[in-house]
Amino acid sequence: MSIYHQLTDSYQRQFTYLRLSVTDQCNFRCNYCLPDGYSAASPDPFLSLEEIQRVAAAFALNGTKKIRITGGEPTLRKDLADIIRICKSTPGIETVALTSNGYKITQQLPALVDAGLDQLNLSADSLEPANFEMITGHNKLQEVLAGIDLAISLGLKRVKLNVVLMREFNRNELSKFLEFVSNRPISLRFIELMQTGDNVEFFKKQHVSGAEIQQHLEQNNWLQVLRDPHAGPAVEYTHPHYEGNIGLIMPYSKDFCSSCNRLRVSSHGNLHLCLFADAHESLRPYLTQESSAQLAKRLQHLLGGKKETHDLHEGNSGSTRHLAMLGG
Ligand code: 5AD
Ligand code: SF4
Repeated sequence: MSIYHQLTDSYQRQFTYLRLSVTDQCNFRCNYCLPDGYSAASPDPFLSLEEIQRVAAAFALNGTKKIRITGGEPTLRKDLADIIRICKSTPGIETVALTSNGYKITQQLPALVDAGLDQLNLSADSLEPANFEMITGHNKLQEVLAGIDLAISLGLKRVKLNVVLMREFNRNELSKFLEFVSNRPISLRFIELMQTGDNVEFFKKQHVSGAEIQQHLEQNNWLQVLRDPHAGPAVEYTHPHYEGNIGLIMPYSKDFCSSCNRLRVSSHGNLHLCLFADAHESLRPYLTQESSAQLAKRLQHLLGGKKETHDLHEGNSGSTRHLAMLGG
């Protein structure tokens, strides 16, 4: 297989990582994302298995090595194992990862690993069952935590737990979250709450800056891990007495975008050059057998439009109403 080109933009960033949303449907009602629950934004069908295969192949031809499958909640798709199998068997794709809310993960995970899944990210915005239920609308904390332990025991290469800290809901659980990795070989990542079109007032009240957490870590003997230049924007910390790591994802920090290595495709086949871009481009017209080579070329052309950084500091979250649209 010949690689046409590495996807590189005007700022010398290389894109080797695709985040592919396979549904925007979600069964949770996280207070910062879908507080009123899911309602379909488009009557169009989600990408079919065949279309997913073509997307994966075109990105792989352009040097993509890793695909993360996201939603909404991707496990709501009955054909998720087939999606994973197709991505994993695409020449050039080395790693297939999944982000899930974990509501049924212990039942589903063995088949997904069997299909080729390499990495799993789950979320727990609280380690107290009642608080978890208040934030997500579901009493599923025990299931998520069992999913983390199962993923470790099934030997997944990297297991991560995402946490969005909010001033009034879970900031007081910071020490509990740190304790959670004391004896688990996982990375727990604090994702700074991002403003989206739908959560402006909520964001103003609840946003906790990553710098505040960073300061706490540095005062408590957590050491920053040297960054692999291709690792993407998370900052990782390690501690001699803890088995796991802590990661910080700080989209409001200076230089966050300079290590961007990812592109996104929505469940309706739109290419998003940034989580917070205004515009997106439909790839669907190119997802036919006749045009798969054209698709690979088209991607190179579209990448020329990628901007240096988002405008989140100016309160501009582009056309992104909530992250269920694109899976974060
Ligand atoms: N800000 C930060 N993180 C968010 N997520 C969803 N919406 C937001 C937001 N507005 C996170 C979820 C999950 C990941 C996919 O994205 O909590 O961990
Ligand atoms: Fe929560 Fe993710 Fe569903 Fe949004 S898409 S409601 S963050 S589980």
